[in-house]
Amino acid sequence: MRITDVIAAKRRGEELTDEQIGFWIDGLESFADYQNSALLMAIVINGMSFRETSTLTRAMLQSGSSLDLSRYGDVTVDKHSTGGVGDGTSLIVMPVAAACGKIAAKLSGRGLGHTGGTLDKLESVDGVRTDLSQREFFDIIDKTGIAIAGQTDSLCPADKYLYALRDVTATVDSIPLIASSVMSKKLAAGARNIVLDVKTGRGAFLKTREESETLAKIMVGIGSRVGSNVSALVTDMDSPLENCIGNAIEVQCALRILRGEERGEVYDVSKALCAALGVDGGAFDRAIASGAAYAKFESMIAAQGGKPGCLDRLPVAKYSVTVEARESGYVADVDALKVARAVLEAGGGRKRKGDPILPEVGARLHVAVGDRAERGMPLATLYFSRPGDEELAALLADAFSIAAQEPPRKSRIICKIDKEDL
Ligand code: URA
Repeated sequence: MRITDVIAAKRRGEELTDEQIGFWIDGLESFADYQNSALLMAIVINGMSFRETSTLTRAMLQSGSSLDLSRYGDVTVDKHSTGGVGDGTSLIVMPVAAACGKIAAKLSGRGLGHTGGTLDKLESVDGVRTDLSQREFFDIIDKTGIAIAGQTDSLCPADKYLYALRDVTATVDSIPLIASSVMSKKLAAGARNIVLDVKTGRGAFLKTREESETLAKIMVGIGSRVGSNVSALVTDMDSPLENCIGNAIEVQCALRILRGEERGEVYDVSKALCAALGVDGGAFDRAIASGAAYAKFESMIAAQGGKPGCLDRLPVAKYSVTVEARESGYVADVDALKVARAVLEAGGGRKRKGDPILPEVGARLHVAVGDRAERGMPLATLYFSRPGDEELAALLADAFSIAAQEPPRKSRIICKIDKEDL
């Protein structure tokens, strides 16, 4: 078999055989980046059937080893988002679940396209490592009940490679590629209970509710077939979920929520995600109010290498620029994609595979959709580190629409997909 034949088959829109998919993933790193990119693009354009997507997931899962969490019984939990803007829910859901007696074992990803990644956020904390060996992962879980690590050369290496390549070849927004990437990581991490946050809308990779529901059903289907207890929430990502977008700034936001200093939509979505993992609303509120969730987060940070006092001195950008309302009215819209682009252009995300990111870069929104804004009032602040990037304020300003009428309130949580819905 030749990789060019597999590329050509998918380019013609054929359904790939299990052998072709296995051949690709087994030989992934022996093929050139341009060949892998060509096949990824053919998949984006021509799609994959459920069988192909399941086979791709299994091949990616088998590209490395899996964690056996069975010694912890039925209380192991994991959570994954398909990629959002200002979406630090993992930093809240995992510590709350751990504080409520669950074993929170998560394999995360880096920022992809315009969206943020939990690994990049965590690594903005001085000393924190996410490239944990399996032994370290288990030692940390034994000690703290919570660990968040990245794909490694032993855990889902195929996703590690493809994820970085997709990020820079415009091949992220594809249902089979997202499903196989997410589910191979989730199955490799081995948790019994998994909740998926499938984002939909402008700031998500999938823009329509229909596509996002399809993705949710495919992922729940793949997980359920191998005996995992998987469910998904489809949530709106037209506007950023939190008022902070970036890396260190999203950690700061999570700290405020975990300390009980702030609430908002991110609190509600985190609560709903926890509920899907068996942590009811009362237990969620108590874990925050008692400081137990914050203590779990702190212990995980320390166990993953965080230096003493690191949470009190997160990186801060040298410069900032604030954009103001040009007219009075209601905030009718905050375009998540435009906000994310401003942060990415300022160095808060990657444009090329392996690019370093500037953890201190980010944006803070001072108003949310539905708020009243008076002319001259601050709408958002961009924090940046490179002189000249103040020009990106125009992009940030462009994310806001002000209207005379108060916009209708939308619910963030659109629907829940369980095994029974398939
Ligand atoms: N998150 C992942 O892990 N993979 C994707 O492809 C998109 C979001």
